[in-house]
Amino acid sequence: MAKFAMGKMRRKGLASMAVQTVSTASTVDLGPAAGLSCRECGEIFPLGPIFACELCFGPLEVAYDLPTGDPEALRKRIEAGPANIWRYAPLLPVPADVAEKPNLNPGWTKLVQADNLARELGVEPGKLFVKDDSGNPTHSFKDRVVAQALEAARAFGFTTLSCSSTGNLAGAVGAAAARAGFRSCVFIPHDLEQGKVVMAAVYGGELVGIEGNYDDVNRFCSELIGDPLGEGWGFVNVNLRPYYGEGSKTLAYEICEQLGWVIPDQLVIPIASGSQLTKIDKGLQELIKLGLVEDKPYKIFGAQAEGCSPVSAAFKAGHDVVRPQKPNTIAKSLAIGNPADGPYVLDIARRTGGAVEDVNDEQVVEAIKILARTEGIFAETAGGVTVGVTKKLIEAGLIDPSLTTVVLNTGDGLKTLDAVAETSQATATIRPSLDAFRDAGLAN
Ligand SMILES: Cc1ncc(COP(=O)(O)O)c(C=O)c1O
Ligand SMILES: [Zn+2]
Repeated sequence: MAKFAMGKMRRKGLASMAVQTVSTASTVDLGPAAGLSCRECGEIFPLGPIFACELCFGPLEVAYDLPTGDPEALRKRIEAGPANIWRYAPLLPVPADVAEKPNLNPGWTKLVQADNLARELGVEPGKLFVKDDSGNPTHSFKDRVVAQALEAARAFGFTTLSCSSTGNLAGAVGAAAARAGFRSCVFIPHDLEQGKVVMAAVYGGELVGIEGNYDDVNRFCSELIGDPLGEGWGFVNVNLRPYYGEGSKTLAYEICEQLGWVIPDQLVIPIASGSQLTKIDKGLQELIKLGLVEDKPYKIFGAQAEGCSPVSAAFKAGHDVVRPQKPNTIAKSLAIGNPADGPYVLDIARRTGGAVEDVNDEQVVEAIKILARTEGIFAETAGGVTVGVTKKLIEAGLIDPSLTTVVLNTGDGLKTLDAVAETSQATATIRPSLDAFRDAGLAN
């Protein structure tokens, strides 16, 4: 257990909804993780499957004893590491031998220099990049966060992995549980895309459709956690949320390392609960503190679908609080009407000089097709949201086309085929003859 946190740590019983039976914190090995700190009041708690501060109910996040010393040595150590998120193990809440444990080894996805897309959007070639996280084992960035939550679940002695999900997370939990030998039982809104449902079910765990939207699913899971029915379960995005969130920092680390240990000027990140966006900012701040990158200004832009845009609406109205909405959009993976990290997203967008913007469903489909046509990347609807918002923000003059911009594609288009199926069909159907081909008018 790390030095700095011990003195300040309290061991009072936490609010009952936030407590689980666990191995004691002192026996937990989560590498450099030293404790959990409250994002509101700063109180420090021992590592455990807790997510809310007992003093103020603020959300908890992982506090570290980060490596000190020569940044060059740390950079070299990272660069010599495996081509997955575990190259950053010294900066994550995982044991040092994490790479040897059965897991899906996500991460180190491609950062694509998107010159064709740049030309289409009026950006200087060489300045626009797509971080393509559809390349992860279950084809979304969720494998990153689940990998961290899995290590916390192992450390705390859980044997069932669970989550409330808008689709991608359910698949990521199912697959990680299968590989690690855990039982899984995941909860989704009953009306998700077929690709998401099949991807969540195929790994053999339990998949439960809840009659309601994601916010209903999440409420249900919070109740289940406080009930003996859910005892001993690790809900990756509820009681393991502080650890889960840290997985998104690896996106920040990878983007900077892939750019030659440089922070990009502008990042466009999708928002559902807002966790990913806040943790990418945390990751950038850590890199600066560690001396792995030069401190420089960067702008973070959040992207939502118009049919579920509570954070964007609050940003535009100048509010600090987010008013919940009832989602109605094809971007179902981002359809969280009451985003837990919404206020923190607003802070980050304002602090960095960025913005939060939204696009309608038609623009989402258009953007999916632009990305596919220009770069050969088939994004799910969340990627349509980020590319669509990037286009809109360039047109509005908020994204500077002469500066480096990284747009996140966080999921795979094969999971949301319906979004583009109607307008993406065979150009022609012909008899297998040259005459028929000539008649179809497709020869050069
Ligand atoms: C593909 C995809 N991108 C982005 C997100 C946003 O994640 P967060 O809840 O961290 O904002 C999600 C969440 O489910 C997702 O599935
Ligand atoms: Zn607190």
